[in-house]
Amino acid sequence: MTKLSVNINKVATLRNARGGNMPDVLKVAQDCERFGADGITVHPRPDERHIRRADVYALRPLLRTEFNIEGYPSREFVDLVLKVKPHQVTLVPDSPTQLTSNAGWDTKTNYTFLSEVLDAFNQAGIRTSVFVSTDPEMIEYAAKAGADRVELYTEPYASAYARNREEAVAPFLEAAKVARRLGLGLNAGHDLNLENLNYFYQNIPWLDEVSIGHALICDALYLGLQRTIQEYKNCLH
Ligand code: PXP
Repeated sequence: MTKLSVNINKVATLRNARGGNMPDVLKVAQDCERFGADGITVHPRPDERHIRRADVYALRPLLRTEFNIEGYPSREFVDLVLKVKPHQVTLVPDSPTQLTSNAGWDTKTNYTFLSEVLDAFNQAGIRTSVFVSTDPEMIEYAAKAGADRVELYTEPYASAYARNREEAVAPFLEAAKVARRLGLGLNAGHDLNLENLNYFYQNIPWLDEVSIGHALICDALYLGLQRTIQEYKNCLH
C-alpha cells in the first residue's frame, strides 16, 4: 500500500495571513486523518512563515497516523526533530528563504554532513528519508550515508507529464529500481496532483509514500477536504 501523507504547510500559510487561528491547523490535520490520510507532513522553516515550531510540538500528541517532518537539517531543525521524535524525518537541501524545495541533495558532495545528521536520527529511532533527484549516484550516496529511504523529487515528472507521460516517468522508474536494489524505501513528492498521480503509482507500485500539499489543498477549495483526500487515495490503487 502506498501511503498518502498530506503536507499541511499551505493551511498554516492561510492561517498566518490574518494572524488569528483560522483555519485551525491542528484541527485540519486531525480531519485529514479522519478523512483517510495515512500521514501528515510539515516543513517548518526558520522564519516560521508557514508551519511554526509550536505547531510541530502541538501536533505530535494529537496525530494518530504517521508524522513526517521535512526540512533543511540546521542545528535548530535537528534539535526540534530529536525533541519531537516524529515517525520520519525528510532531509531537504533548501535555503531558508527559498519559496519551495526545487532540487534534491547532492548526496556525494554533502556525504559527510548527511552521514552525521542521519546518524543522529538513526540513533534516536527516527526513520530517515533524503530528498533526491533521479540520478542513480545521488541515490547510492544517500544509501551509503545511512538513509532508510529516498524521496524522489517529482517536479520534473509533473512538468513533463502532459507532453509525454511515458518519457516523464521513465527516469523515475529507473531511479526506483536503483533504490529497491539498494534496499531503500521509496517516497515521492512535489507537484503531484489528481491528474499525474495515478500514472506515477501504476508505474512504480512499490512506492511507500507520496507527500502532497499544494495541489491537494487547492483541490480542496472546490471539492472539499474529505472528497479531495478520498480522490487522492483512489489514485493509489
Ligand atoms: N516533498 C518535499 C520534500 C517538499 O519540500 C514538498 C513541498 O513542501 C512536497 C513534498 C510537497 O510538494 P507539493 O506542495 O508540490 O505537493
